[in-house]
Amino acid sequence: MTNINLHSRSLVTIDDLSNGEIEALFSLTDEMSESLNEQSEVCRGKIMASLFFEPSTRTRLSFETAMLRLGGHVISAIDIGSSSLSKGESIADMARVAGSYADIIVIRHPWEGAARVVADYAGIPVINAGDGSHAHPTQTLCDLYTLKKEKQTLKGLKIAFWGDLKHGRTTHSLSYALARFGATILFHPSPGLEMPEHVLRKLTAECGGKLERDTAALGYASGEKFFPVEAAYITPNHPHQLAMMPDICMQVEFKTGVDALYVTRLQKERFVASPTKEGELQNAYPVVDKKLLERKEFKKTLVMHPLPRVDELAYEIDADPRSMYFKQAARGVPVRMALISLMLGDRNITVPEEIKPFGPKTYHPTYKHGTEIRCPNPICISNQETEIKYIRPEFRIVNLEPPILECTYCEHELRPKFIASSDWHEGTLEYKNYHKADSHWIRKIKPDNLIVFTTEEEALAQGFKPDKHIAQNDENSE
Ligand code: NCD
Repeated sequence: MTNINLHSRSLVTIDDLSNGEIEALFSLTDEMSESLNEQSEVCRGKIMASLFFEPSTRTRLSFETAMLRLGGHVISAIDIGSSSLSKGESIADMARVAGSYADIIVIRHPWEGAARVVADYAGIPVINAGDGSHAHPTQTLCDLYTLKKEKQTLKGLKIAFWGDLKHGRTTHSLSYALARFGATILFHPSPGLEMPEHVLRKLTAECGGKLERDTAALGYASGEKFFPVEAAYITPNHPHQLAMMPDICMQVEFKTGVDALYVTRLQKERFVASPTKEGELQNAYPVVDKKLLERKEFKKTLVMHPLPRVDELAYEIDADPRSMYFKQAARGVPVRMALISLMLGDRNITVPEEIKPFGPKTYHPTYKHGTEIRCPNPICISNQETEIKYIRPEFRIVNLEPPILECTYCEHELRPKFIASSDWHEGTLEYKNYHKADSHWIRKIKPDNLIVFTTEEEALAQGFKPDKHIAQNDENSE
C-alpha cells in the first residue's frame, strides 16, 4: 500500500494532482458522502480563509459547507471592493496576511495566475477556486467524480464539450484531466468560441494525444444548428483510432453515441463584444433540450454543466435521469471535504500499490531572460501586478522548433518572431546578432542562453544587430 500525501501542498491547476492521488481522493469522498454528519472532529478548530473576488454560489458555499462539516471555521472576503485590494494592496501582501490568520486559503480571482501567486506567498495550502478563464481544478474533481460514479470508469469514455470553450475555465481544466485518464473529447464550440490553441497544444504535446480537425463538419454551413464538431482529441489509449480512417467524419464518430455532454454557458463577462456581436453569439448558441436528447446518439448520454445555467439548458430536462448538473453541484461538498482534510493533513489515505501516480510532470526549461518580454494575455497577473514590481514575467520553454514559451502564471503562449543567444555576444560585440525564430539558429542555441523578441525593434533596442539574412531581406524590401 502507498500513502497518499497532500499535506501542506497547494492545488492551483489539475496538474498538481497525479491520477493516483485523484483516485485516492475519490475513495475518501465516497467515505465522506456516506457519513457527512460524522466528520465534525476531522478539522476541528482549523480555519479556512474563503477569498472570492468574483461571483460564486456553488463553489464558495460548497467549500464553506465542507469546512463547517469537518468541524472547522470560515473567515471570508467576498469582493475586491470590501478588501484592501481596492486600496491598491498587492495580491502577495494579501496572501501573506491571510496566510498568517488561517490554516488553508481558497481563492477565486478574475486575474489568471492569481492563485499561483497566492500559493507562492501564503505559506499555507492554497486551493484555486477559479482564476479568470485559466483553471478551476476543484470543479474538475466534481466532474470527474460524477463521471466515475455514473459510468464506473473514466478510461475510454467519449465526452462532448459544448458551448463556450474559449472562456470556460471548467472545460480547460477538465480536458487535461480527461486526457490523462484516457477519455476522448469531442469539441463542439459555439462558432467563434473554440478551445484556445494553447490548451490544444498542451493536450497534444504533453498528454501525447492526437488532434483531428474536421472542418467539413462545421455543421452550421450545412444548415444543422447543432454538432459543429470542430475537433476530437484522441488520447494515448487509442491514438490512431480515428486517424486510421482516411475519410473520418466527426459527425459519424459522434453519432455512435457519447457518454456525456458537458455544457457551458456563454461567459459574457470574459469578453467585450458589441451588442450586435453578443446578440449573434447568443442566437448561435446551441441549446440542449428534450428534443435534442431524443436523438439516438444521446440515449445513454449524461448531461453535465458546472452551473450556473442561463439559456443553454432547457428546464424541461431537469427531471430526466440523464441530467447530472444538480448531482455535480451536490457532490461538491464531499469532494471538497476530502480535499481539505487531506491538504490539512487531518486525514490520510493509502491506496493499492498498482494505483501509480501519473508519473513525473513534463520538464520544461525555464526561460532565463524574461525581464523584457511580457505575457500576451492582458489579464494575466504578471501584466496586472508588474507595476508593483514584485512579479517578474516568468516563462517555460515548451517547444524549440518553433520556439514557444508558456507563461508560468496563466499558461498562455508566446510565439516569438526573433531569437538570439546570450552566449555569443559576450566580449565579441560583432556577433551580437538576432535571427528569425524559424531559422536553423534555433538548433544552435542552448535553452539556457535563449533570448526571444516579438519584434525587430525589441532586438535593436537591446543592442542586437540583424543577421545577414534579415539584413539582406530588409535591404531588398527597401
Ligand atoms: C463555473 C465557474 O465559475 O467557472 N461555475 C462553477 O464554479 N460551478 C462556471 C461558470 O461560471 O460558467
